[in-house]
Amino acid sequence: MKLDILLGLQWGDEGKGKIVDYLTPNYKVVARFQGGPNAGHTLVFNDKKFVLHLIPSGIFRDGIINVIGNGVVFDPVIFQNEVKSIGNNADVKSNLVISNRTHLILPTHKLLDAASEKAKGKSKIGSTLRGIAPTYVDKIGRNGLRVGDILSKNFDKKVNIIIENHKKLLDFYKFDYNSDDLMTEWLSSVEILRNYNIKNTEYLLNNELKKGNAILAEGAQGTMLDIEFGTYPFVTSSNTISAGACTGLGIAPNKIDKVFGIFKAYTTRVGEGPFPTELNDETGELLRNKGHEYGATTGRTRRCGWLDLIALNFATMINGVTDFIMTKADVLDGFDKLKAATKYVIDNNEHTKLPYDISQIEKITPVYDTFEGWTEDISKINDYNKLPKNMKKYVEYIENFTSTKISLISTGPERKAIIDNF
Ligand code: GDP
Ligand code: IMO
Ligand code: MG
Repeated sequence: MKLDILLGLQWGDEGKGKIVDYLTPNYKVVARFQGGPNAGHTLVFNDKKFVLHLIPSGIFRDGIINVIGNGVVFDPVIFQNEVKSIGNNADVKSNLVISNRTHLILPTHKLLDAASEKAKGKSKIGSTLRGIAPTYVDKIGRNGLRVGDILSKNFDKKVNIIIENHKKLLDFYKFDYNSDDLMTEWLSSVEILRNYNIKNTEYLLNNELKKGNAILAEGAQGTMLDIEFGTYPFVTSSNTISAGACTGLGIAPNKIDKVFGIFKAYTTRVGEGPFPTELNDETGELLRNKGHEYGATTGRTRRCGWLDLIALNFATMINGVTDFIMTKADVLDGFDKLKAATKYVIDNNEHTKLPYDISQIEKITPVYDTFEGWTEDISKINDYNKLPKNMKKYVEYIENFTSTKISLISTGPERKAIIDNF
């Protein structure tokens, strides 16, 4: 009957995995629509922790169809490892459907990612080295290989043509590599992939809507990493925004109902690129330590800073957010003061809009509003009214500034650590 979308409003890692898992019982289908194994979505329940890179975060709930949509880029080797890591905690074979239009990441895409980052030197993007950009380049350049191709007779020939082209490019980069072992591993993972449910998921999804069933689209990365509206060129190579759910799944825009925009109560970023509210001091260090801010995919240190309301307003506008979800509020317990940026100062001029060339601007000075902190431990609170007074003030300030209601507040990594205010 309707498509709801959940997506990140910052630079990724907002806690999408946890919240999708929490919301899944309200849906029949959970579907990834973009990105690939650059994503790392963490779920914690019954004292177990899982990190998903390709498989949607609805996989652990019974009776749910999980779809990897056409907008995703898919690495069969990572998929195979992910299935192993899930073990018998979910029935992936029965409950997952992969679009035949999903593009395949080849080992040489990963090598090209590394070669391109090396060639960029100091101006590298800080990619996850999962081959994301080269795979989307081949897709848009009309040279890609799709999951459906593994079922075709001339699959080997198609693979060889692409690999030969990639090798020429790698030579151009003068990149040292040996792809033989990687290719053997990749081809054996493709064999395993043949046993999974691969089909034209656009029909499946639209049929489910026709039957009156609801679909939740699970975003990866975040709005500030969107290829069009993020901090270009320090972005990923897909449309992370709500519009991407339509092209990435084959569902028309008039089927969209809710757009859940998720943000951390502060801000983090992994990789290079502008981050106006970044704290390179002990407060940033404190946020990192309390929030365990280390990448779920690459283990890299996440850069930390205060909440950026200019970026949040921008992301809310671009996505048509209907409800906010705020995560990691518990990480702010015990802070004496909190800050949120309401303006940027650039060359003595105040800005309330996000500058388009943000990555070129040498100095952005955020203007902050300051809030009194709270000393209570909020991690066991499930009722909004029981939250510390100062936290409610922080929440209400954000709601007023953005004209958007915070409908869920996450207060810990566990499934149950949540305040449902829908
Ligand atoms: P995603 O990529 O958006 O799914 O987020 P990640 O899984 O990469 O990063 C979020 C991290 O924060 C994970 O380690 C989660 O287990 C954890 N997490 C999620 N929500 C909360 C929360 O409300 N409080 C705390 N302390 N941790 C959280
Ligand atoms: P989830 O879904 C945080 C960042 C990388 C790099 C840039 C480009 O877990 O929120 P790419 O490998 O996509 O070419 O890298 O994007 N990045 C992420 N940062 N969370 C993610 O995913 C990310 N996926 C990519 O660090 O700066
Ligand atoms: Mg993540």
